[in-house]
Amino acid sequence: MTRDTVVIVVAIVVAASLSSCASEPPSFDHAATNEPLSTAVGPIPGPRHDAPAVTNPFADDRTATVEGRQLFIRFNCSGCHGGRAGGGMGPSLRDVDWVYGHSDAQLFSSISEGRAHGMPSWQPRLTPDQIWKLVTYIKALRTRNEPQAPPTE
Ligand code: HEC
Repeated sequence: MTRDTVVIVVAIVVAASLSSCASEPPSFDHAATNEPLSTAVGPIPGPRHDAPAVTNPFADDRTATVEGRQLFIRFNCSGCHGGRAGGGMGPSLRDVDWVYGHSDAQLFSSISEGRAHGMPSWQPRLTPDQIWKLVTYIKALRTRNEPQAPPTE
């Protein structure tokens, strides 16, 4: 080994050791690894929240309100919700408490799709128009537009 060669070898060794000192030990970002898994596992059960905005074609239509009342009796909604929708085995639809919301679209969804604790789905048995008329009737409860309102309240 010549003197020049020794100098080069030393230089390489020093450079290598310096660079290994400078390099950081592998680090883990704990914040990232502790994040909850957000893997999609399929549709989330329950009412849809991404339902397109829908409007009731019979909103405030007095004839539809009366027809909705007739449907309420004919399809025996009254059997569970009471003759004046005041509640029975099913909850009152004329009080201010709503489990699933009382917007037109939410009422439509409750009737059409059914609800978990005993509310049947009416989608195959009722047409969308019939469901909207029931929505119109339910919205008219406790208002002066209510057909066949109970005599006292
Ligand atoms: C077999 C009994 C039964 C019949 C028949 C029935 N319902 Fe229901 N309904 C229920 C029950 C029980 C609930 C509560 C469900 C829940 O909390 O998950 C409910 C919930 C609802 C809700 C949601 C109430 C809220 O607080 O958000 C609406 C609206 C409704 N029913 C309308 C109707 C209409 C309109 C009809 C007729 C087409 C009807 N139901 C027929 C039992 C019935």
